[in-house]
Amino acid sequence: MKIRLTDRSFLKLLDFSPEEIRYLLDLAHRLKEEKRRGKTKNRFKGKSLAMIFEKRSTRTRCAFETAFAEEGGHPVFLSTDDIQLGAKESVEDTARVLGRMFDAIQFRGFRQDHVELLASASGVPVYNGLTDEFHPTQILADFMTMEEVFGRLKGLKVVFVGDTRNNVAKSMMIGCSKMGVDFTALGPKELAPDPETVGLCRKEAEKNGCRICVTENADEALNGADVVYTDVWASMGEETESAAREKLLAPFQVNDGLMEKTGKTESIFLHCLPAVKGKEVTESVIEGPRSYVWDEAENRKHTIKAVMVATLT
Ligand code: CP
Ligand code: NVA
Repeated sequence: MKIRLTDRSFLKLLDFSPEEIRYLLDLAHRLKEEKRRGKTKNRFKGKSLAMIFEKRSTRTRCAFETAFAEEGGHPVFLSTDDIQLGAKESVEDTARVLGRMFDAIQFRGFRQDHVELLASASGVPVYNGLTDEFHPTQILADFMTMEEVFGRLKGLKVVFVGDTRNNVAKSMMIGCSKMGVDFTALGPKELAPDPETVGLCRKEAEKNGCRICVTENADEALNGADVVYTDVWASMGEETESAAREKLLAPFQVNDGLMEKTGKTESIFLHCLPAVKGKEVTESVIEGPRSYVWDEAENRKHTIKAVMVATLT
């Protein structure tokens, strides 16, 4: 099957088929190898990318900015402290203006409907660099890292531990259901993923030969896990929840004891970062031999470059 993603936006993994995700991952592996050999190809020469940030970022911003620039493009960082968006100007009007000046737009912010509106009103590809609901580019980097370690995705088992209703957990559940990876959400029932998305993912998982589970039982969830994944207990915009979250999530801290429950010496630890060491994960796990978080962070760049190459060239 010939995959063509030119002019598409990348807003959530639900919009992409397993074959399209496979195509992006293969391209990312190729681009990483090219970069290692010092070969870039000016693929974005003469193009410009608007990068809108309502929330802070290290990895996503740097990945988009350096990936676009090293292929000859011109990225422009626009924090919402500087532009009119949300203050004087509507999302739709901003989209229409940026669409006249830029070849693509990256958006990191609060609302998923805003990134969707940017895409429909701008007429150029829009990339979701994280919203309250989804973080789709993160999952491409996670999958790339898993392939580097295990040589495959299909048949692996991922356990996401902690706040299993957040943007990263939800996107990982969707990604796994598409790529034939068993996924378990392990956390308190108060923070379980929404039943509608779980239902969608179970249907998708059935087609792709994998299972989606939601549980509070750590022994059951972790047995046989290849990947243990966690994220912060309070996401950006939820800072006032921090104390309540600590209470709820303390039993789900990823520590050496929890990693032992996989029963596999070769199981790995992933975290999208930034991490709060000593809270959702102990120093010994994140700095230990099972942790691939720095490869995972680097892979943000190669996978984001793949999304831009696929949609802009
Ligand atoms: N993982 C991730 O999105 O990191 P940043 O918040 O630093 O972009
Ligand atoms: N769930 C986190 C992810 C950060 C990359 C947040 O939204 O803050």
